[in-house]
Order: sequence, then C-alpha cells, then structure tokens
Amino acid sequence: MASLIDPRYPLCELHRHLDGSVRLGTLLDLAREHDLALPAKTEEDLAPHVHIDGAEPGLLAFLARFHWLLEVLVDEAACRRVAFENVEDAAREGLDYVELRFSPAFMAERHGLDPRGVVEACVDGARSGQREFGVRVGLIGILSRTYGVEACARELDALLACADGLVGVDLAGDEAGFPAGLFVPHFRRVREAGLRVTIHAGEADGPESVWSSIRDLGAERIGHGFRAAEDPALVAFLAETGIGLECCPTSNLHTSTVRRYEDHPIRGLADAGVRFCLNTDDPGISAITIGHEYDIAASSVGLTPAQVRQSQKDALEMAFLSDDDKKELIKQKVEKTN
Ligand code: ADE
Ligand code: ZN
Repeated sequence: MASLIDPRYPLCELHRHLDGSVRLGTLLDLAREHDLALPAKTEEDLAPHVHIDGAEPGLLAFLARFHWLLEVLVDEAACRRVAFENVEDAAREGLDYVELRFSPAFMAERHGLDPRGVVEACVDGARSGQREFGVRVGLIGILSRTYGVEACARELDALLACADGLVGVDLAGDEAGFPAGLFVPHFRRVREAGLRVTIHAGEADGPESVWSSIRDLGAERIGHGFRAAEDPALVAFLAETGIGLECCPTSNLHTSTVRRYEDHPIRGLADAGVRFCLNTDDPGISAITIGHEYDIAASSVGLTPAQVRQSQKDALEMAFLSDDDKKELIKQKVEKTN
C-alpha cells in the first residue's frame, strides 16, 4: 500500500521519548569512549539486548528494557549527543516538527548526574539539532511518577529552572502504582509556569486515570489513553472537548497493554470522533519509525485511510505550538514541496 502520509502537509510527531531513542551505534561509541561493559560489540549482536522482538509481559518489564540506554548516559555530553541525534533521526524520517520528551531524573540516576545539568544538555542538544537539521523541536519534561511525589517535586525544580527551553510537562512511568491525583501540586506549578500539560494515562490503568489526569492535572492531551474506550461517558467527553490521544500502537503491543494491532481500541475511539495522532513512543526500544506506525495504522490496526490522513492533520492541531507557528509550518511545507 502506498504511504498515507501526505507529503504536502507537515508531518508531526508529539510522543517520542528521547531517552528511549538512543542509536545502537551511539551505545557502542559511548561504551568504547568511557570503557563501559555492554553485552555485545557490534550493532547486530547488541540489537537483541535492546530492541523488543515480540512483547514484554507488562509496562514495568518494558521500562526495564531501558537498562543499556541509561548505562551509557555517563555525563552531560552524552545527554546532549543523544538529544542532538534524536533531531537528526527525526529529520531522516521526514518529520517537520517533533515533540521530544525526557525525564531528567531517569537519565541522571545511573551515573549520579545533576538533573538540572541533564535538562540543560537536552535543551542545548535539541536546539543545535534544530539549527542543523531544520526540524522544529518542542521539548517536554517528564516527571517519573515511579520515583514518588517528593522526588517528582525535585525533578520539577530541575525542569522549571530551564522552563524557557520546554513547551510542556508530562507524567510517565508506573501509572497504576502512582495515580495522577498524587501530583496535583506539581501540575499547578507547571501551569503557573505557562507550560502545557500532557499525561501518560489509560495505558496501564483504566478510564478513571484519564478522568483524573484531565480533571486534577489539567491534561490537554493524553499519552496513549486507549482505555478510555471502556467508559462511554469519557469517550463522549473526549470527542466533545477535542482532548486528543497520542496513540503509539506498536509500543502498546510491546508493553502487552494491547494484544494485537487488530484489537487496538483506537479504531472504535476514532469512529466515535475522538481526536488522535500517531507516534513511536520509544523508537530505540521498539526499533520502529513514524512511517512504520502510519503504515500499520491502516494495514493492521484497521483505521480507514481517511482516519489516518486526518490524524496527520490532528497531530499539527494538537501540537504545543501557537496558531501562528502552525500556519508557518504549513506555509514552509508548501514552499518546500512546490
Ligand atoms: N516511559 C517510556 N515509555 C513509557 C510508556 N509507554 N508508558 C509510561 N512511561 C513510559
Ligand atoms: Zn510514552
């Protein structure tokens, strides 16, 4: 099937973890440079230790897969390199705009880095990448809920110290163990700082997690969110308000939160008028590109070609950009393709 991506319209991805997106070659390079032990010496041999083939039994087992990616984040230069290469990879995939998200506490933990230094390095790397590769970038800071309420307050301090380098803040990690309602004060601070809000919800927990993320934290978009399909009132609310879902179909198979592409609830949600966009989530773990997600959305998930084309438009609509910036992206794309 020909690609459903419209080459004359901006291609945007809104849900990609830069700390879940480290190249195999970079893992090997950094390990060599810093004398770190990896389980293999070539990309081919390293791939099975990093990439998921099949599925992990659940979200937490999936997150344990980040082990080798975190192992090589030895200093701020490594974080800067990973952020820069994420933008280069986005350019190679044909993206015009990408929102890259990262958790400074998660990236800092293994080698005891200063989370504020990690934020500065990611902002610097992404800005350099934007200048070099011509892809527009929006950075989203993550609070890793798995570390608990106090640690997330400190993580937020690090993020807000660089607030002008960010477009928004997210909450990720163990959704079922650390419900959204615990993080009300954190997201009050986020909104007071003028940053936008997206929350991982309705992935490893049910519809109440989505309701709470919207009601208690002010989520304007939901990461994953497909379990909203279990509550007709929530489906109607999402359709009515236009609060959109950042859909990551392959990631959902890899976390065993959806069993098969054919079973993905996004089809019913889209039929009910819920807005969504397509994303890779953690391409360095799932070994996918945005083009792959557009391909399987129609061929395997069963979305209609019209729904997939609409999702490309909604990705730009849902972006944490001003209306003027959205218009500018459309204009630039028309100029590029004429
Ligand atoms: N961090 C990276 N990927 C994630 C996911 N799919 N859910 C929650 N936290 C994550
Ligand atoms: Zn995610």
